[in-house]
Amino acid sequence: MQSVLETTPHMKNKPLIIGNWKMKLGHKASKDLASSILKAAKKANLAKSYDMVLCPSSTSTAAVAKILKESSIAVGGQDCHWEKEGAHTGDVSADMLKEAGASYVINGHSARRMEHFETSDIVRDKADAAHRAELISVICVGEPINIREKGDDEAEKFVLKQLKKSLPEKSQPSNTVIAYEPVWAIGTGRTPTSEQIAKMHGVISKYLGGEYRVLYGGSLTPSNAKKILALDGVAGGLIGGASLDADDFCQIAACAEDVGKAA
Ligand code: PGA
Repeated sequence: MQSVLETTPHMKNKPLIIGNWKMKLGHKASKDLASSILKAAKKANLAKSYDMVLCPSSTSTAAVAKILKESSIAVGGQDCHWEKEGAHTGDVSADMLKEAGASYVINGHSARRMEHFETSDIVRDKADAAHRAELISVICVGEPINIREKGDDEAEKFVLKQLKKSLPEKSQPSNTVIAYEPVWAIGTGRTPTSEQIAKMHGVISKYLGGEYRVLYGGSLTPSNAKKILALDGVAGGLIGGASLDADDFCQIAACAEDVGKAA
């Protein structure tokens, strides 16, 4: 398999499509979906001008990695602990994910921030742990609805503050991806306007110096992906619901492929 880090030189212009399966699929369903996506991606001759990552539950990381072994599709975890090891019942370390075949891990998803009270300081430490294990950290940021309702400027200020705190000092474009996911757009069928997405991505990219990949996430579907993934500063997508259907997910990937070819 092509090493993920081999993709770094042209990374910024190479779209990245990540499927976040959340806690929605059991072991068999995860293996079946990985096989279907692999088949659909091969059939459509995809996975050339963009990168694809699948994030199953940690109980299926190794099995999904095994299925994708000979392909260019990578595997990611959905979360990791901030420490290397220890008495942390129920947690998964970055090293464990790495050993199971992952090369990416999502950190600071809004579900973690809300349900597990993860602060940006915790997210930063988790991303740091990911980097120490040589995983690429996908750091999620995004404003809740009450902040967006105060206006675009407030939403941008909120996200920038979250980003500054969540980003480890040693982050590099080669080990870190940012996912802008407005909390109110996740799983709701609602999305910000194209202008709002482009503006937010502009703010994030300006802060990061422009070299990082910044993904959009929140109700991406085959019908809105073409428009959203082509926006300035959007380097791909973090996809929940639509990643659970191989055809839908590959249709979104095909939109990313078009953007990648044009880059
Ligand atoms: P969604 O989820 O695509 O179902 O909105 C995105 C995410 O939570 O990463």
